[in-house]
Amino acid sequence: MKVDLYEKIWMWAALGIVVLFLASLGFSYIGRAIQPPSHVEMIDPEAVRTDEEFGNPGVTINADGSATVVVQAFMFAFLPQEIRVPRGVPVTFRLTSADVIHGFQIVGTNGNTMVVPGYVSQFTTSFSRAGEYLIVCNEYCGLGHHVMSAKLIVEEGAGSAGSVGESGGVR
Ligand code: CUA
Repeated sequence: MKVDLYEKIWMWAALGIVVLFLASLGFSYIGRAIQPPSHVEMIDPEAVRTDEEFGNPGVTINADGSATVVVQAFMFAFLPQEIRVPRGVPVTFRLTSADVIHGFQIVGTNGNTMVVPGYVSQFTTSFSRAGEYLIVCNEYCGLGHHVMSAKLIVEEGAGSAGSVGESGGVR
């Protein structure tokens, strides 16, 4: 079969674009640990405020040094407003919404999930740099969407081997 030169160029260019997209997908997934959550857990959104876990949101340090952060999202705030976790340990976030769809993005990190009413969103990450991080809602949720934020403070905890050279890593 005779294929015209220009036809060949376009075919190879199209193939190249596909390979480029797949490579960037792979790089995001493996290199930057940007992955969709695989956790499925349901909750009645109307019972969130009286729920044993989500009615008392906050940070728990587990026996192995890891942290669990329970967050309640609603129009137009997150509870707790200030989250303190140790540096360098696995931190599992568990989130749910008491009303509409919200977002939960820890700016400058790979911590980012949708918070959908009726579901518990969960992801685990860790923070290598101590400091203060902004948490924003990145799903439009109503008139107060732009003020919906919270603060994450990553501390030089007892669980993290605080080498001098590495500390003070506030971006
Ligand atoms: Cu909550 Cu936007």
